[in-house]
Amino acid sequence: MPVFDFLVIGTGAAGLSCALELAELGEVAVLGKGGLSESASDWAQGGIAAVTGDIPDSIEAHVADTLDAGAGLCHRDRVQQILGAAPAAIGRLIQWGVPFDREDGRWHLTREGGHSARRVLHQADHTGQAITRTLLRQASLHSRIHLFGQAFAGDLILREGSCQGVWALDTDGQWEAWVARAVILASGGLGQLYLHTSNPRGATGDGMALAYRAGAQLAGLEFVQFHPTTLYDPGQPAFLLSEALRGEGAILRLPGGGRFVERYDPRAELAPRDIVTRAIQREMMAKGLSHVELDISGQPAEKIRSHFPGIYAHCLARGYDLTRSPVPVVPAAHYSCGGIVTDMNGETTIPSLYAVGEVAWTGLHGANRLASNSLLECIVMAHFTARNIARKLAGRSRMPRPRPRRQDIPRCSQVPDTWTVTETRHRLQAGMWEDVGILRSPSGMASALGRWEQWLKALFPEPCSLLPDQEASELRNLLQTAILVTAGALHRQESRGCHYDTAFPHPRTEPLDLFQSRQWPEPQSRAVLALA
Ligand code: SIN
Repeated sequence: MPVFDFLVIGTGAAGLSCALELAELGEVAVLGKGGLSESASDWAQGGIAAVTGDIPDSIEAHVADTLDAGAGLCHRDRVQQILGAAPAAIGRLIQWGVPFDREDGRWHLTREGGHSARRVLHQADHTGQAITRTLLRQASLHSRIHLFGQAFAGDLILREGSCQGVWALDTDGQWEAWVARAVILASGGLGQLYLHTSNPRGATGDGMALAYRAGAQLAGLEFVQFHPTTLYDPGQPAFLLSEALRGEGAILRLPGGGRFVERYDPRAELAPRDIVTRAIQREMMAKGLSHVELDISGQPAEKIRSHFPGIYAHCLARGYDLTRSPVPVVPAAHYSCGGIVTDMNGETTIPSLYAVGEVAWTGLHGANRLASNSLLECIVMAHFTARNIARKLAGRSRMPRPRPRRQDIPRCSQVPDTWTVTETRHRLQAGMWEDVGILRSPSGMASALGRWEQWLKALFPEPCSLLPDQEASELRNLLQTAILVTAGALHRQESRGCHYDTAFPHPRTEPLDLFQSRQWPEPQSRAVLALA
């Protein structure tokens, strides 16, 4: 039985930076499920927002932009703490070796929707990759960090209400108990709930579902952010066209026609992304369009090629030369603003269970995340979490290393066949896109919720913990998070941030308490997670 001081679930910016900090305190295992370099962080293009002092800007202005995008549901004090810690977080990244772009001896700062200033540090159009690959290199050099790219975490191990490890599937298809003083969930989001998503295949809501089954508090899952611009390329996985393109002058047009976003918001292409996304969706619906167009060809060709080399090359390979003509675009699911509730120390409501990054709800994003605040949140909250754990260890009496015990594996015997798993995943994604997507209606959401509950019961009737394989486990996680997203959305009865209900098009005067999660059904299988 593998025993470590800390288990980190996830290999993105949150997981790797947390592992690097925790390695100063003990032995750390980092568990990934699709290889070490698959993560949404790795795919992030635009950048990381921070006030650097290189241009006239202020943390107060960054806070104000974040609160504005978050549509009344950000927690101001937490926003201030996280954004105030940005300069130090950027300093750590630079120390680890992240090569942010510079120009004339200063940071090259780009701009994205909702930001009142240029404050996004980046490395061309592959900032996420520059960060995760640097962190991965550092982690692989560290003698106290142990990296496991194919170890799918299927459930948490609880003892007397406290988290003591995870059940993980090894490469031989066997479940094994991994035990540690603390578990840090950094497993990313749930974009794979949707037919169209900018997220990798592994974004199946695992961390949220694990925490939910274990009884942790979650909040705000109805706030799924849809990115306005992915390449319209039927039959291909969605490819993101960074918001930085609009920050650098790209405009949105109707196919063969004129601009339209300024009819929806005076900030036009640089309005927060929920507004731009809905403007596109409404135009497509009203005019029966399959897509709109994004046009940056008015900018110098050299600037396009040097600032956006990855996007330029991908579009060219798919038949579109960004320097000469517009490209067809559609919105896609991009980011979960809600997640497992944590305090500013990364602590969840379950002792010894922490959550960092997209999987977590810290109060930073509210009802709609400001562009490029997420990589920042990963680095800042990883640091706060590790600092908190260090304090606890210094106190000694808490966080003993659990003694390994023989585990009885709570295995399910009834499981759906491979065809059913694949087909259900596809039908769920199509249904979520249709009924719980950019524009939602109460009847669509209610019907969707009924379907997800029925499918969950029919396919996974036994209240037990571990399924025989990863695909079935991911489907169960998707169905459980679909229920949480849909139930939360139906319950809200208002429109706010990324959540838009056609029957309630305005925000409530008094926002619903985000923690009002009583509408969520009880998880099927809480007790069996406890160790004998
Ligand atoms: C983008 O490059 O448009 C994505 C940035 C983000 O999601 O913060």
